[in-house]
Amino acid sequence: MKRSVPDLMTAAEPLVMVTAYDYPGGIHAERGGADLILVGDSLGNVVLGYDSTAPVTLNDMIHHARAVRRGARDTFLVVDLPFGTYHTGVTDAMRAAVRVIQETGADAVKMEGATPEVLDVVRVLTRNGIPVMGHVGLMPQTATAQGGLKVQGKDEESARRTVEGAQALQDAGAFAVVLEAIPARLARLITERLTVPTIGIGAGVYCKGQVLVYHDLLGLYEGEEKKLAKRYAELGRDAREAIAAYAAEVRAGQFPTKEQSFVMKDDVLGKLY
Ligand code: KIV
Ligand code: NA
Repeated sequence: MKRSVPDLMTAAEPLVMVTAYDYPGGIHAERGGADLILVGDSLGNVVLGYDSTAPVTLNDMIHHARAVRRGARDTFLVVDLPFGTYHTGVTDAMRAAVRVIQETGADAVKMEGATPEVLDVVRVLTRNGIPVMGHVGLMPQTATAQGGLKVQGKDEESARRTVEGAQALQDAGAFAVVLEAIPARLARLITERLTVPTIGIGAGVYCKGQVLVYHDLLGLYEGEEKKLAKRYAELGRDAREAIAAYAAEVRAGQFPTKEQSFVMKDDVLGKLY
């Protein structure tokens, strides 16, 4: 029951997207009923431990996307093109996107921004049959230039740039646009103006769909909750407590028990003594 691009573009129900980065994540996202899975370059932050997405390479993305696909064969899979892979011309961008599609089995690629250069890339990829998801608002790959990881679209200039960027991405052929960290009413205006679906993160309830980062949704990191995310579980706490319980049992000689141990016949054993 994998969704197609036209089906996603005309869906009546809200679209549900979640990120995943490996085989179990793919399994959980698919069985949890996500409409789309995104292998985000947030990989850099939540899985690889970098403090930005900039160091993530195309090979990193492909390696992880292949694992996700093995766990989620029947879900529409989007893979982020990482920083630097679509900034050196349309030929390089096309080559990167083709590698992603061929080597991972992804259904679409996503890229950030709506500069004239990115719009050229979107046009060439979509014309050649590679579905592209756009991404405006807060754009982590270039957050330094945006003044840090801050909400976008609050003043008129930034709001106008965001609306026009989303519109231009649609015109260039994007089948959907992610809106990250913009005011809810701005996201509503964009959603009303576009014919393609908007997918929000920190962009309010009026978007056509929502996306959350796997680790945020599941609470895989303890500590303060991000403003734009909601924790539906506390798996980080659960993991820490489970490992602490295991450690205590090993140290007390309580694990393993007979239950986890294998037996052999006495006469065989006797020959060894
Ligand atoms: O990399 C990512 O996880 C993303 C989503 C937050 C949209 O781009
Ligand atoms: Na991303």
